[in-house]
Amino acid sequence: MKKISVNLGSRSYTISVDEGIAERLPGEIKKFKKAGPVLLLTDTNVAKIHSVTYKKLISSGCIPFAIPAGEKSKTFEMAGKVLSYMMKNKFDRHSLLVAFGGGVVGDLGGFVSALFMRGIPFIQIPTTLLSQVDSSVGGKTGVNHPLGKNIIGAFHQPKAVFIDPAFLKTLTNREFLNGYAEVVKHGLIRDAALFRKLENRHDDIMKRKPALMAEIVARNCAIKAGVVEKDETEKSLRAILNFGHTFGHAVETVTGYKTYSHGEAVMLGMRAAVVAGVHLGITAADDAARMFEYFKKCGMPSLVKSTTAKVHSAMFADKKAEAGKLNIIAIEKIGKAVIVNDPDSDAVIAGVRTMINKG
Ligand SMILES: NC(=O)c1ccc[n+]([C@@H]2O[C@H](COP(=O)([O-])OP(=O)(O)OC[C@H]3O[C@@H](n4cnc5c(N)ncnc54)[C@H](O)[C@@H]3O)[C@@H](O)[C@H]2O)c1
Repeated sequence: MKKISVNLGSRSYTISVDEGIAERLPGEIKKFKKAGPVLLLTDTNVAKIHSVTYKKLISSGCIPFAIPAGEKSKTFEMAGKVLSYMMKNKFDRHSLLVAFGGGVVGDLGGFVSALFMRGIPFIQIPTTLLSQVDSSVGGKTGVNHPLGKNIIGAFHQPKAVFIDPAFLKTLTNREFLNGYAEVVKHGLIRDAALFRKLENRHDDIMKRKPALMAEIVARNCAIKAGVVEKDETEKSLRAILNFGHTFGHAVETVTGYKTYSHGEAVMLGMRAAVVAGVHLGITAADDAARMFEYFKKCGMPSLVKSTTAKVHSAMFADKKAEAGKLNIIAIEKIGKAVIVNDPDSDAVIAGVRTMINKG
């Protein structure tokens, strides 16, 4: 079992990563249960695909609520439905919420638990690669609004996170790669040894061997936790986690969130950010070549059917652009990222161009 401490004073908690931990979840959850009932929030896919774990949790006394699977459930309305269900079923301030699923269930569950009775504790059991290495770490919770993604939310740290890498076996390839973009990102911004491991063990990782995945997931949690510990509410350092995202979000915006998964957009975005970094004189050509080669190995998505001007202007609509100025993250060397405020627009445009299909 690998344990990662997230040290945030009174909001500190432990992330436990272990193959087979799914079987021990009832006992683990019991340690956090107080006098009130436990809500088990999941989605309809996870309830079906991981029915053994789901049923075990219900038999141990958790009260289930399964939302329809997918991003469309991450809304204020759905949060309201869950809250109403809790009210009707006499949940109280001593209740606990367990979010069993991907990032949608985790973000919604965290948000509901931040709101109910002004905040009840919650536990995350992330089941997608994205949620295991990214969304379950750091306490950002929330829902989407028709006018913006993740725009309504709260910082609310879980009391514990339990990760079983065996859950990853049932993900589609596309869902696996969706999370894998964040794994690659973590190596590039913070951990050269991790990136080297990804290069060397690529085929085994793609086979999702649980022991190797436990190691990779735990390392990723530690990287993200290390950043969050230094800057919980994203005043500065936490912004490095946006490597590839300013470019990637613009791709998602111009394509209406329909063509690319988030991870695919981030893959395109990371390559664009490397190109921008080279133009800015921050990223060395040999590092860039190594990164390009690995991106290719991961399977770069097709280029965006749009114009450079449209994608470039969409970057300024990102909620992280401040007063009309962009911040991008560049790679100084593999394993070290820097924040570039108001970068030269020629460099940014050079990056954007690499994402566009000119045909
Ligand atoms: N809070 C944060 O810091 C943070 C960070 C990154 C992303 N996010 C959010 O995370 C969300 C995306 O997360 P996601 O990619 O996990 O999406 P998701 O929760 O929608 O899961 C993707 C799909 O996989 C299914 N699924 C889940 N576990 C499975 C399993 N083990 N086997 C087979 N199928 C499984 C789900 O039912 C769903 O259909 C977005 O809403 C994004 O905004 C949050």
